[in-house]
Amino acid sequence: MRRRDFLLRGVAAGAGLLASPGLHPQDSAGSDSPGIPIIISTWGFGKAANLEALEILAAGGSVLDAVERGVMTAEANPVISTVGYGGYPNREGEVELDAAICEGKTRDGGAVCALTGFRHPVQVARKVMEDSPHLMLVGKGATLFARSQGFEEQETLSEGAREAYSKWRQKHPEGDGKAEGHDTLGQVVMNSSGSIAAACTTSGMAWKYAGRVGDSPIIGHGLYADDKAGGCVATGVGEEISKVCGSFLVVELMRQGATPDEAIAEALDRIIGRVATNRSVQAAFVAIRRDGLTGAGSIGSGFQYALTRGAETEVVDVTARFQEG
Ligand code: GLY
Repeated sequence: MRRRDFLLRGVAAGAGLLASPGLHPQDSAGSDSPGIPIIISTWGFGKAANLEALEILAAGGSVLDAVERGVMTAEANPVISTVGYGGYPNREGEVELDAAICEGKTRDGGAVCALTGFRHPVQVARKVMEDSPHLMLVGKGATLFARSQGFEEQETLSEGAREAYSKWRQKHPEGDGKAEGHDTLGQVVMNSSGSIAAACTTSGMAWKYAGRVGDSPIIGHGLYADDKAGGCVATGVGEEISKVCGSFLVVELMRQGATPDEAIAEALDRIIGRVATNRSVQAAFVAIRRDGLTGAGSIGSGFQYALTRGAETEVVDVTARFQEG
C-alpha cells in the first residue's frame, strides 16, 4: 500500500482510534491497553513529565492540561539547568524563560519569550492563548501580563545556576563567551479521542545575549500539533531548528504519509545540509503521527526521549543521524 493511502485509511477511521485499521502494530504491543494515550517528551528528564501528564489524563484532564502540567515538572526542578527555575541565565546573569503551548484540534497556541520573574512560563503561555487576543508576548510585556493574571513572582535564579554563572564570569570577565546548551523540554500528548497537544519550555542557551529567543516558543519551530496529522517538538540549537521551520515541517511530512522517523530524518537532513558546520550542531525531534506511530531522531549522539504508551513508560536512547569524526 502506498504511504499516502495508508495515512488516508487511518484518517477515514475517524475518532475511533482504538479500533482504527490504520493503527500501526507497534501501538498495541506490550501493554494491556492498546497503547493509548501516547506521550512523548524530549530527554531523560521527560520521564517525570510523562508520568505527570499521564496522571492528569487519568484524572479526566484535557491534552492541554496534560502537556502544561507535564512540562511544569521540569520548570520546578532546580537541578535541570536548561528549563525553568534551574535554568542558567543570560550573559547579564538574568534568567529569561521561553515557552509555548498549542492545541491540535483548533491549531490555537500561546507563547511567552524572555519572561523574567516567573518559574512557570508554560502557564503564562496558556493564558496568552486562552485569555488574550494574542499569540505571543515578549520581555516586559510578558511580565506585565503574567502579573496581571495573578501569577506569583518568584526568584528564578537557583543556587546552582548562580554558582555556574559566577564561574563562567570568572572565565569570561567581559561576558563575551560562547552561549552553550539547549536541552529544551518538549512534550506531545495524544489521548484516546485522537486529540493532540504540544508544549515546549526552556531557559534557552546558557550565557545567551539578553533578549535572545530560540525555536521553543515559536509555533511551527519548536512545536506543532494538528489532530489531522500529528504533533512534534524539537530540542537543540534553536537558530538552526527555526531556519527549517522544524516542527511544522515534520508534521506536514507526516500529513503527506511519511512515518515520524522519515519526517524527522528529512528535517534533520535539511539542517545538516544547510551549511557544512551544521554537522556538529545538535538538533533533535520527537513526534507522534495521528495514527499513533511515534518516532525520534537526532543529529548528534546522547539524545534520549521518554515514551509512554498506555501505562508503560520508558526512556529510549537515539542513534545519532550524523556523528562528527
Ligand atoms: N531549543 C532551545 C533553544 O534554542 O533555545
